Amino acid sequence: SPEIPVVVAIDGPAGSGKSSVSKAVARRLGYGFLDTGAAYRALAWHVQASGIDTDDAASVVASLASFDVRIGTDPAGYAVHVGDVDVTTAIRDPEISAVVSRVARVPEVRTHLIELFRASMALESRPGIVVEGRDITTVVAPDAPVRILLTASPEVRAARRSAELVGSATTSVGDALRARDEADSKVVEFMTAADGVTTVDSTELDFDQTVDAVIAVIGNIQPVT
Ligand code: DC
Repeated sequence: SPEIPVVVAIDGPAGSGKSSVSKAVARRLGYGFLDTGAAYRALAWHVQASGIDTDDAASVVASLASFDVRIGTDPAGYAVHVGDVDVTTAIRDPEISAVVSRVARVPEVRTHLIELFRASMALESRPGIVVEGRDITTVVAPDAPVRILLTASPEVRAARRSAELVGSATTSVGDALRARDEADSKVVEFMTAADGVTTVDSTELDFDQTVDAVIAVIGNIQPVT
């Protein structure tokens, strides 16, 4: 029978560099990578594509029955599909970012997706899997041998996100991030580290230094095998 993969749980706010750092860490360790936010984004996409109002919680819950999502865990070539549609790019649209919190706050949605995440983690064929999101260290995988909160100052997060979204003003990106953090914070606490979770503050670190800092935390807590 296959070995149980080592889980590296990483949480943090939008724009903390979580996804790109987690992906790079996974590549370096030969681990899988699971972006849980992509599942919430894919559901927001599915809800909108089905003509459902994202504020209509009952219809959002009903739409889970037809939500056939697949999220790859290959850090080198990761794609998100809903049914036959490749939504990898579409789910990054600011229009999705603006409404994703509305579906993520529905308790039945969270229960459903958490089951998917755990199934995906258990099926990982690589020796480990880096799982990133908002509630991985606390709810999805509280027993993970490595749990990290990746933070950065609001200013740095806004600057990094606007560098990604070419042509967007830092102030409006900062406003959008703040609004989303505020909405998401009402659902799960991810701005402060839970008990036993190691904080990595990337405010003063560049990308490679942040990856090194995360790898160092993992190295310090080598799980018993
Ligand atoms: O990490 P991200 O920005 O792609 O996440 C998109 C949204 O999904 C985010 O606004 C909050 C939600 N989310 C969540 O509620 N729980 C997670 N574990 C991951 C994301």
